[in-house]
Amino acid sequence: MQDDMAQLLQKYNESDIVCFATPVYTWNMTALLKNFVDRLAPLKSPKIKAENGNFDLQDSKAKTQKFVIISNCGFPGENNFDVLRAAVACCNPSLEIYRNCGKLLKSKKPEIAKTVDRWLNVVEQAGKEMTIQGKISEITAKDLNMSLMSIPDYIAYIQMG
Ligand SMILES: Cc1cc2nc3c(=O)[nH]c(=O)nc-3n(C[C@H](O)[C@H](O)[C@H](O)COP(=O)(O)O)c2cc1C
Repeated sequence: MQDDMAQLLQKYNESDIVCFATPVYTWNMTALLKNFVDRLAPLKSPKIKAENGNFDLQDSKAKTQKFVIISNCGFPGENNFDVLRAAVACCNPSLEIYRNCGKLLKSKKPEIAKTVDRWLNVVEQAGKEMTIQGKISEITAKDLNMSLMSIPDYIAYIQMG
């Protein structure tokens, strides 16, 4: 297929850090991101590799990038990220940011927006640490998992529309 993917593959190969960002749609990454990931196929060689009884195509050249995954989902509960987590495991991500109760991210209520801002500052901090140190500190990792709202309050919030 002759389209802008050739340019994107070049950018992908030259990047120090590749960040995949997607909301959870029906347990998984969006179809848009999935299409992009499928179009990375030219980076694979035709040779098959076997690891612990699992089979995959070998990369045509060793990956030099680090990978970051950012996702949000509408429901509470970490299980909403299980499928995505499994799908991205093959790129051995250096950082995975999974935000449940994602409907709060667009809230205009000042007290909610304040909490969301606090969390977004931690996301920014994680980005800085990844860029400078290639990994994030324990405290940043812990703060990324902060709760934005209790589950009963969140359910009441989304059911109010
Ligand atoms: C088609 C569709 C499927 C979704 N599937 C899930 C899901 O399986 N689990 C979940 O927690 N949220 C799900 N959501 C909610 C989204 O993850 C959530 O609304 C997210 O914030 C989407 O951002 P957006 O609405 O700005 O695209 C789904 C939303 C849509 C539109």
